[in-house]
Parts: sequence; C-alpha cells; structure tokens
Amino acid sequence: MTVEFGVSTRYLHMLSERSLRFPSTTKGRVSHSYSDSNSNHKNILSHHHPNTLTDFTGFHGKDMSSHFLSCLTELLTTYVQSEGDRSTKVLDFHHPHQLAEMMSHCLEIHPEARDMEQLLSDCRETLKYCVKTGHPHFFNQLSTGVDIVGVAGAWLAASANTNMFTYEAAPVFTLMEEVVLTRMRKLIGWEDGEAMFAPGGAISNLYGVLLARHRHSPDVKTKGINGARLVIMTSEQSHFSITRAAMILGIGTTNVIYIKCHSNGKMDVKDLKDQISKARRAGIDVLMVNATCGTTVLGAYDPLDDMADICQEFGIWLHCDCAWGGGALLSRDYKHLVKGIHSYLRDRVKVRAGFHLIVEEIEAPNVCFWYLPTAWRTRPLSQIKDEHLHKIAPAVKARMMEAGTLMVQYQPLGNMPNLFRVAVSNPALTRSDLDFLLDELDNMGNEIPVPSDW
Ligand SMILES: Cc1ncc(COP(=O)(O)O)c(C=O)c1O
Repeated sequence: MTVEFGVSTRYLHMLSERSLRFPSTTKGRVSHSYSDSNSNHKNILSHHHPNTLTDFTGFHGKDMSSHFLSCLTELLTTYVQSEGDRSTKVLDFHHPHQLAEMMSHCLEIHPEARDMEQLLSDCRETLKYCVKTGHPHFFNQLSTGVDIVGVAGAWLAASANTNMFTYEAAPVFTLMEEVVLTRMRKLIGWEDGEAMFAPGGAISNLYGVLLARHRHSPDVKTKGINGARLVIMTSEQSHFSITRAAMILGIGTTNVIYIKCHSNGKMDVKDLKDQISKARRAGIDVLMVNATCGTTVLGAYDPLDDMADICQEFGIWLHCDCAWGGGALLSRDYKHLVKGIHSYLRDRVKVRAGFHLIVEEIEAPNVCFWYLPTAWRTRPLSQIKDEHLHKIAPAVKARMMEAGTLMVQYQPLGNMPNLFRVAVSNPALTRSDLDFLLDELDNMGNEIPVPSDW
C-alpha cells in the first residue's frame, strides 16, 4: 500500500504546536486609510509605499541590489502582516478588462529592461490586486492562511537556488530531506519504506498511479504500453486528478470505474467489492483502488480498513489520496483543535434560518450547505426545484466578488445543485470570523428574488 501526501509545508506547519499568526495589526505599521476611485477601504500597501516610485538615486552596484532587497522585504513583510487585518478587504475586485487597463504599465512586456524603481512599484501593484489568501475571511480554497515559516522557507530556498541533484550539489538540503521524510513516515507509524516530496496533490496522485502501474506491469517502463486493459477504481466523489493520471499514464479515462458513495460522501464498500468481482469475471485487471482521505467537497474519509481488507483479498494495490485530510494522520492534538472550530460552524449553520447543512457528521473541516434568500424561505427546501436552487449560489458569489469582503466557493456535487463549501483551515480563524461569514453571506444574498416560474 502507498500513502501519498499531497500536503504542502503549509499544512505540515499547521500541525505544530506553535501558533504562527500575526497580531491583526502591528503597532504603527498598518491600517492607513486611503481612497481610490473604486474603493474607500483601508489599504495597507499604500501606507508605507504610496503609489510613488521608491527613490534609488545615489545607489549603485551591490548597494542598489541591497536597497532593492530591503525595500522588497519591507513590502512583503507588510503584506504578510496585513493579511490578518480584518478591516481590509479580501480582494479589491475588478473585471478582467478593467484590471488589464489599470495594470497595463505592469503587464506590458517592454523592450528595455525595467529599472529597480519600476520593479518595486510593479511588485506593490501586483500584491494590491491579489486575493489575500491568508485573510481570515478567505474561505474559497482548501488551503488558506499564511505560514510565516513557510514563507521564510520558500525565500531561503529561492535565495540558495540549489539543484537537488546530489549530496555534492545540495549537502544541507539532501540531509534535511532525509530527516523530514523519515520523521513523517515515523509519525504515520512506519519504521521503513520510502517517501518523496511532491509539489501538490494532483501530482502525488499521478505518482501513486505510476507506482501501481509499475507494480502491475514493470515492463511498461522499457517496452511501453502493450494494450492490455487495466482499470482503476475510485469513488465518484474522489478528486479528478485520479482520472487525469489515468489519462496521462495511458490507462484511459474510460477505464476509471467510479464507485458509489453514501450521502455523507464515503465510498460504498459493497459497491467496490461488487465492481471488483464483476471486473474479475470479465477478465479485467484492476490496477489500483484509490481511497480518499478527506474528499474535496464534503471532506469525507473513505472506509480505509474495509478497503484495505478488500484489496488484500483480491491482491490489488491501494493508494490513498491524503491531499486534503491526510494531515490529520500526523497529529492527534491538531485533529482535536480543528474539530472544535469547524464543529462550531456546522452548529451555527444547522440552526440558522435560510441555511441547510448537507452533511451533519463532518470529519475533515469542510462545512457544506445550501443557502436560501429571505423571500425563498416561505417554502421548505424539499419543495424548491433543483434548477432554481442551483442558481442561488452563483448569484450570491457574483455579489461577493464585487464586494470583496468574503470569498467562499460553491459547486454542484453529483446530482446535487450548487452548494457552498467552506473549508475551515486557516489557523488564524476565530469563531467571530465564522459568524461574520454567515452574516455577510446572508447580507449579500437575502434580497435575491424568487424566480418568476417558481
Ligand atoms: C482530495 C484531493 N486530492 C487532490 C487534490 C489536488 O491537489 P493540488 O491542487 O495540490 O494539486 C485536491 C485539491 O483540492 C484534493 O482535494
């Protein structure tokens, strides 16, 4: 069995005991008001660095480089600190054509090299219009929050600019890699085995399918694919990167068999067993079964033990996609802490008018719900047509993006109409941020009228 961890250093760091959040404001450094034509929100970046060019007069050679780097350090430090400032927006939204025009001076590729002043100014503009993914009101993706040790590590690695070829080329990083991977295996409970770092979940799944294929057909490495039909089984709520891996590795997307899920998002192991038996009877080789530890939308953990038993019985490789929920394997303490805050959101959603929880027994910190604006609440959810419900989330989302005060994602799931998914993963989150989330979503959506044909 392989277990892959598409877990970024950000997640690993969240597992440590230390709290790495910045105070929401740091004395004298942040939160200076300014206005521009589109917004009168506070903007941190314009305080220390008004929209004028930094003066580089009198700087040459090494002094110039060092002045540039120290200005950039200040800019980045201020940005990272500002991300925790709840009085700022998550995003200063502009439509693509507006932003392209506003940033045309940065986005144009100039025939001449940019000077240092201009580069700094471009960096400032870039940060100004970025989504603040570390902001406590950013819930859009699964990975939220900023980890200053992660930021420092990325900066250190970029400055060292080392190739990880050999010990000769990268002595410190080679030792570091060995120590960290050994420790991670130990935390999972494995005394031996091998591991490697991967830059994300999708590529980890690709490596996982590659391992399974190599175990099954090692000759493919030298002779190429021989045309035998191989299938992968994965739950219908698993991440699309499993199917993508099947496409890339020559297995074929039609050879991915989707196993049914229960309403809580977990794989139905009875269906798995039936499908494996059916494939066997048809003479089809099952290359691999994928178990998802923390599905992307509902955060469900597939029943690993039962799946492992079935795979053992049939001699099939079991791969675990731990990209989202695998971090919980590494820390009992953290699992408990996360449970507290996401359960809080689940409980608030459960009792609040207009909010309809999709799964009550949540495992990973995903809270999914449908939202009904005030005028829609005269009917029970069960009497509202799916095609109508489907349109509410995009309408709320459009308002949300323009306001820039909150970011939450929505999507359909299987046959279910669009639902909101909130991932509670930012270590700086407080309960009042979650209250803010529900209030703000309600403020934005409550005036959406009922459809004319309802
Ligand atoms: C369960 C699962 N697997 C894989 C991935 C892909 O991860 P990445 O975006 O890091 O490639 C995701 C991303 O959300 C995921 O939720």
